[in-house]
Amino acid sequence: MTSQQAEIAALFENAARLAAESLQEQSDPNQPVVNWIGPEDLTQALELELPAEGRGLGSVLEIARKTLHFSVRTGHPRFVNQLFGGSDPAAIVGEWITALSNTSMYTYEAAPVGTVVEVALIKRLCDLVGFPEGEGVFAPGGSISNLMSVLSARQRAFPHVKQHGLREGERPVMFASAESHYSIPRAGIVCGLGHDATISVPVDEVGRMRVDELERLIQEQKRVGRTPFYVAATAGTTVAGAFDPIGEIAAVARRHGLWLHIDGSYGGSALLSKKYSGLLAGSELADSMTWNPHKMMGIPLASSATLMREPGHLEAALAMNADYLLHEDSDPQWNLGDRSLQCGRRVDALKLWFAWQVHGDIGFERRVDGLFDQAQKFRQLLAERPGFRLIRDQEGPNVCFRYLPPDQRDAPAAEWPRLEHEATIRIRSQLAREGSFLINYASLDGAATFRLVASNPNTTDSDLTALLDAIEAKG
Ligand SMILES: Cc1ncc(COP(=O)(O)O)c(C=O)c1O
Repeated sequence: MTSQQAEIAALFENAARLAAESLQEQSDPNQPVVNWIGPEDLTQALELELPAEGRGLGSVLEIARKTLHFSVRTGHPRFVNQLFGGSDPAAIVGEWITALSNTSMYTYEAAPVGTVVEVALIKRLCDLVGFPEGEGVFAPGGSISNLMSVLSARQRAFPHVKQHGLREGERPVMFASAESHYSIPRAGIVCGLGHDATISVPVDEVGRMRVDELERLIQEQKRVGRTPFYVAATAGTTVAGAFDPIGEIAAVARRHGLWLHIDGSYGGSALLSKKYSGLLAGSELADSMTWNPHKMMGIPLASSATLMREPGHLEAALAMNADYLLHEDSDPQWNLGDRSLQCGRRVDALKLWFAWQVHGDIGFERRVDGLFDQAQKFRQLLAERPGFRLIRDQEGPNVCFRYLPPDQRDAPAAEWPRLEHEATIRIRSQLAREGSFLINYASLDGAATFRLVASNPNTTDSDLTALLDAIEAKG
């Protein structure tokens, strides 16, 4: 072994040890969720200046340690902030192998393993959705998968669009609930349709799309000469965690000839659970679906599947037939490049494959059930305490709630939303700065609302109780 090889070997041995320690630390509730410092102090602490003379391999571990020290521990049982939580060891090794093999997913020739693994995983996810003939690809995130669905739908409705663009006077419109993710209207913007092209459909009291309103708005848009072509049902909305009624939306979509997309970025994983898959009843009727294993399945970002019920739509919208890449003498069925918005594309399939081997269907089902049950448990704990109230009460994996401190409970009821709004912003910021809990907030019905996300199977009932205690103490 040369001295350089020995140095590399030592680096990787130490890096592996650091990874194991970091994973242990992540799941230790006695550690803070984050060692929070402000951006100026962090800039100093990380010594960001780039050196003229390289510091050599010996410097890597120190940089890695510092990076981990100041990073948010998203695998921590008290990280309930985002729709993901990450520390799956098998998937992390899958990430390493992706970096080690450092290749790109456009052709079988360049990425033989990545290609066959991706095709197998996409088939599996399609089967779970109810797309037995389906196809798809992995994308850099739910937003991009949603964009791909709009591009495919636009191509089907306006087949001249790829070559010539829209014709004069054509005014396509799409529909999504008022609580859908912003990536849907932004996809309309990216497609050149403008923000106004996405019609916001009102939601019911728990955050589900109102299908009567969808029907009414489609008819209204037709009357003013616009062309409805796409509706997105959300399976697991970002804030409330609500599931739109897919079967009923599918009936409206069919009646009006609309492409039905399911944004299952978050809640698509409920299909892994016998207990909760009914939340996506009717998914087989959709034309496409986004599913992010990097959310409820705990796979490190990014892992997002774009799934199509029928083959061919992605290529119809996206293929550019670059002959310098996708050669005539190779089998197009195994060259995934023309199904993607990207040219160079990471091998994102490996980490999910590794994790699925380790956990199996049963392990993932247990994980998903546990997260839904955890949210349910939190709702029960919350109901037992005065001063807390649920907002958008439903059975999804998010719990939205407000808290009114005791000295403000005599205020007139009309004042409560403003007082709760102020308390939410103040308390959650204090929790984050001290690193005890990371819990997000969002505006619902005009006032800030705590949003607990059940994102980590290691979060225990006592963590949930401790969160309520901490909010009361700050209140
Ligand atoms: C419902 C929904 N769709 C899409 C997205 C976007 O996913 P990504 O962050 O992977 O782009 C999110 C993100 O939280 C989401 O909640």
